[in-house]
Amino acid sequence: MTRVGVIGCGFFAGNHLNAWKQLASEGVELVAVCDMDASKARAAAEAFGIAGVYSDAAAMLAAEKLDLVDIVTQVRSHRPLVELCLNAGVPTIVQKPFGLSLDDCVAMRDLSERLGVPLAVHENFRFQAPLQLAKEILHSGEIGEANWARINFRTAHDIYTGQPYLRTEQKLVINDLGVHVLDVARFFLGEAKHISAETQHRRPDIAGEDTATMLVRHESGAVSVAECTYDARRLPDLFPQVLLELEGTRGSVVVKADYEVVVTANGAARTIMAEPDVQPWMRQPWNVVQDSVVATCAHILQAYRAGEMPGVSAADNVKTIALCEAAYEAAERGVAVVPRG
Ligand SMILES: NC(=O)c1ccc[n+]([C@@H]2O[C@H](COP(=O)([O-])OP(=O)(O)OC[C@H]3O[C@@H](n4cnc5c(N)ncnc54)[C@H](O)[C@@H]3O)[C@@H](O)[C@H]2O)c1
Repeated sequence: MTRVGVIGCGFFAGNHLNAWKQLASEGVELVAVCDMDASKARAAAEAFGIAGVYSDAAAMLAAEKLDLVDIVTQVRSHRPLVELCLNAGVPTIVQKPFGLSLDDCVAMRDLSERLGVPLAVHENFRFQAPLQLAKEILHSGEIGEANWARINFRTAHDIYTGQPYLRTEQKLVINDLGVHVLDVARFFLGEAKHISAETQHRRPDIAGEDTATMLVRHESGAVSVAECTYDARRLPDLFPQVLLELEGTRGSVVVKADYEVVVTANGAARTIMAEPDVQPWMRQPWNVVQDSVVATCAHILQAYRAGEMPGVSAADNVKTIALCEAAYEAAERGVAVVPRG
């Protein structure tokens, strides 16, 4: 049995609580929830039948015997909460974006390594079902060595009503969405050598940039175009699907709309459907992301139980954050930037 506590019971936390509940079949028990807004903690506890209810994370850690803490708060609270949980000796997961700055993320990673307490980032987009299939195909060798990719997330879905804080972020789309598409670029093509970026501030009533077009040269020599925008007025709006074009030395994999995956190899093409595993608690249009939340939690849980580092470890995610930071610098200076670290 793995006893899980969740910190943060706001907009996105319902997906984590549902995911952990779903993983009861894998021996997960949701034992405590915490939100500094006590009414949100109580509402979550009631909805999910959770016995431990807290408005203070330190109190939760002192009172409960937890095997895992899942932090689902906004980024400004990540470092203090991660430090609290790691110092209490509890394996921890924290939502994206990992931290406010690369230095904060490196400090959290280093603390985890020094204490020997595992830390992972809930980076869920690479766990979208069609992307997992594309990775399996790449891994099989069928399309040869990957040498080019386009990763695309373009939407005008209203994200601002559910997450009003995004309206006032001075640095918006790369930190909120670029973090996902650049992670997907690394997932398929490996580490980045340098990155160029153009950002646009298209919606005047939003504080930050809402569009980013990024170009990455990977260490392998591969190139990727990573695009994201919250201001693409096109129908159908595919939110929150990630589209992918991946070319290799012997073939290609293209993730199209609505989970259609086209594989070309040996001069022939075939189409495979990679639909999310939709559960009764999931809701359109979110279900591909909700399914990826379950897959992310399950992946990290399995790794922690095996005493292994998950694919989305703190050490891995630091590289994605370095790339985001380099993208902002590249956009500002109009040059290609080598990510730090
Ligand atoms: N991976 C994804 O697909 C995805 C999608 C949406 C949001 N997110 C991420 O999820 C995180 C949470 O976003 P949200 O929209 O749910 O935010 P939110 O503001 O709606 O919820 C956060 C909750 O955390 C609580 N909180 C803050 N500091 C706390 C503390 N120190 N102790 C206890 N509770 C505390 C707040 O009271 C609030 O209820 C963000 O980092 C966001 O980027 C990820």
